[in-house]
Amino acid sequence: MDKLNEIIDKYRETEGALIPILQEAQEAFGYLPKDVLVGIGKGLKLPLSQIYGVVTFYSQFFLTPHGKYTIRACRGTACHVQGAKKIISTIENLINLKEGETSPDLKFTFETVACLGACALSPVMMVNKDYFGKMTPKKITTILSQY
Ligand code: FES
Repeated sequence: MDKLNEIIDKYRETEGALIPILQEAQEAFGYLPKDVLVGIGKGLKLPLSQIYGVVTFYSQFFLTPHGKYTIRACRGTACHVQGAKKIISTIENLINLKEGETSPDLKFTFETVACLGACALSPVMMVNKDYFGKMTPKKITTILSQY
């Protein structure tokens, strides 16, 4: 909890401190367990319900452990018409995870999203902060083997 208090103190006087505190806490702990949310609530004198409201609103926050590598595949319209279904099933088969699952060794988490904001490159996937466009099943194999 020393680390959490350090993070809270850093932003305590900042307007809108909750989001940067949640981001930094997640970076420090890998996800946002209940103890961390309770600690943030006490530190900022905010009700836990308000913190949960923020955490569950933004997809960037996780309440359960995430893998070292988060793979996001787009299932939006532009990607869908370019074969997103095949991309998603290829990823699922390669890492043996379904959407929303994390591998037991905490190496991979697999998610699908409504749009990755790079529709011109459809179909698109991301690994952590790296974008990969014009995906094909063969390219997925090559890319994921690097992780
Ligand atoms: S629809 Fe896939 S990136 Fe926008």
